[in-house]
Order: sequence, then structure tokens, then C-alpha cells
Amino acid sequence: MSFARSAILGVGHYVPTKVVTNHDLAKLMSTTDEWIVQRTGIRERRYIEHSGIGASDLAIPAVDMALEHAGRRREDIDAIIFATLSPDHNFPGAGCFLGDKLGLHGVPALDIRNQCSGFLYGLSIADAWVRAGVYENILLVGAEVHSTGVEFNDRGRDVAVLFGDGAGAAIIGRATSAEQGIHALKLHADGSGAKDLWVEAPASAYVPRLTAEMLDAGKHFPAMNGKQVFRWATEKMPEVAREVLSIAQMGTDQVDLFVPHQANLRINQFVGQKLGIAESKTVHNIEKYGNTTAATIPLGLSEAWREGRCGRGSRVLMAAFGSGYTWGGAVVIL
Ligand code: UT7
Repeated sequence: MSFARSAILGVGHYVPTKVVTNHDLAKLMSTTDEWIVQRTGIRERRYIEHSGIGASDLAIPAVDMALEHAGRRREDIDAIIFATLSPDHNFPGAGCFLGDKLGLHGVPALDIRNQCSGFLYGLSIADAWVRAGVYENILLVGAEVHSTGVEFNDRGRDVAVLFGDGAGAAIIGRATSAEQGIHALKLHADGSGAKDLWVEAPASAYVPRLTAEMLDAGKHFPAMNGKQVFRWATEKMPEVAREVLSIAQMGTDQVDLFVPHQANLRINQFVGQKLGIAESKTVHNIEKYGNTTAATIPLGLSEAWREGRCGRGSRVLMAAFGSGYTWGGAVVIL
């Protein structure tokens, strides 16, 4: 059986208004603007303005922007996929909260927990649903609130400086031309690196799930083996990019825009060089937003689209690597 391709019909993004610079963080922990810029490329990030704003709240303006871009209305959405590692609450998923806030009662909502690769994992599900005729207009969100989950002291400085809050959204539906659509998409995972970037507790594997000792030890904050993650990212991102380009039968010279996950400017410059993709064709916005995890790719694509760096018919390469380990790539014609 052959199915028509699915396509990204529209994208949107939103970041909270509170700008937190490296200098602001240097007042809270032993770090410097120079260290952060040299090692990561990050100069500032956005944080939610006050308590009570969850990932589902950040998603709403991004969703409305994506709907307008796609020429769809909220009531056209027939399924929600919400990629996040920072859901509003432990359960139910952020997709349920978002569906309620959008007035989409009865519309299915699926949360996925694939960290930095969350958007590509979600894209794969949406692609299969559209091609199989299960749903027509799928809302795919990547949104994170990291600022409430990192440690603003010397113990947490290696992670705290990296992450920011933000949201991206895409409407996935049937392609309207023979060229348009998702031409290749590959996902991978290797759990042997699961503890290189993780939050250990609360854990259903422990009795009790959370103790005062665990809190004292900071087990509820992310812990990262940065060097190891860096090594894997610089190997796996070019590898999966080549894999999807080969499936799409496309050379790197045919790529109009490269949208990599934004974890570290050095990682992305290295990946771009390895692939032979010019900086001018690569999206870098980590300087402004830090790592917004599941949001980085839709946020980067949405900004690039609005800046005129891509448009209908553009050939876009995406690649991500992160906690899990999970990684993936996609080649999409807009
Ligand atoms: O999106 C999810 C995936 N995440 C990633 O892809 C992150 C991948 N990893 C990285 O981007 C880099 O490993 C980091 C940016 C996190 C760290 O850079 P690094 O060059 O690997 O530094 P390091 O971890 O080896 O640390 C070097 C030094 C250490 O001090 P000593 O042991 O040499 O005395 C750290 O304690 O820098 C210290 N350090 C800091 N210094 C100032 C760690 N964090 C900070 C900080 N400010 N924020």
C-alpha cells in the first residue's frame, strides 16, 4: 500500500520575556560570561516570568502561530503530540493540559519523553499517522520549562548555564504537492548512555521514590557527563544526517537549511564542518535561547522561516542528539 507524504504545514514558536544573561548567572554561581560563551556559545536564555507557567502554557502562543501559518484553526486539530522532558506535572501529560487550554476536548493527546530528540520522535509518529490516514491535522509541540528544574549553585553550574525555557509547534498534515513532505526520517536510541544525562529522582524504581537525603544530594536535578555526551553528539549527528540524506537521495549541496538541535555551538559548528554545510545555511540561535531541548528544532525552523531563510519548497535537514541517548535526523521539503 502506498500513502501520500506528510508535510510540515506550518510552524510557530514562543519564548518567555524574561532574559537571563551569563552575567546574571555569574552572580549565583562560580561561572563567567567568558567560560559560558567559549564552551557553549550561549550568551543569554529566557526564563518563565513567574511560578505557575508550565510547558503547556508556553506552547499556546507557539501553537496559534503555527496554526495561522498553516491556515488552520484550533478546531481543525485532531491529535496532539507533546514532546517534553519538563511536563507541567508528573502526570497526566502536558498534552492533556494543553488540549484543555486550547478547548480541544476529546482530541487525543500523547506525551513523549525523548528529550533533545523529542521533536523528531514526534515527527515520526505524526508522519506515520498522517500517511496511514489516522489523523489529518496533527499538532506537534516541543516545549520546556527548565528554569524551575536546574540548580543555581556551584554543584549545578555545568548544567544550569546550558538550558532555557521555550516552545515550538508544528502542524503536520498531508502534503499538497508531489515534492513537498517528509522525505526521510530516522530515529535511534542507546540506553547504555542513559545515566550520562538524567534526573535520578523521584524514581518509581526506589522505595520511597524521594527522600530528604536524595533532595540534599540534589538527585532531583539533572546530572550530566558533559564530555561523554559531547563526544557522542559529534559522532552521531553527522552519522544520522548522512543516513537521512542518503535515504532522500540528496547531497549536502542540495540542502537549503540545516536545523540542528541547539545544545552547544561548538557541536553544531563541528557537525556542519563534518558535513560540509556552510554556516550561512545553518541555524544557530543557542546564543539567545540556550538549550530548549524538545523545542530547539521547531523554534529554529520557525524563526528561520520568518526571517526568510527558508520557505515553501526549501530542502531542510534536521538532526538531534541528547539524553537517552536518543538521536535522529530528517530531510523535509517544506
Ligand atoms: O542537549 C543535550 C545534550 N547535552 C549536550 O550536548 C552537552 C554536551 N557537553 C557540552 O556541551 C560540554 O561538555 C559542556 C559545555 C557541558 C562542558 O564543556 P567542557 O569543555 O566539556 O568542560 P568540562 O565539563 O570538561 O569542564 C571543564 C572545567 C571543569 O573544571 P576543572 O575540573 O577543569 O577544574 C568544570 O568544573 O570547567 C568547569 N565548569 C565550569 N566552569 C565555569 C563546569 N561548568 C562550569 C561553569 N562555569 N558553568
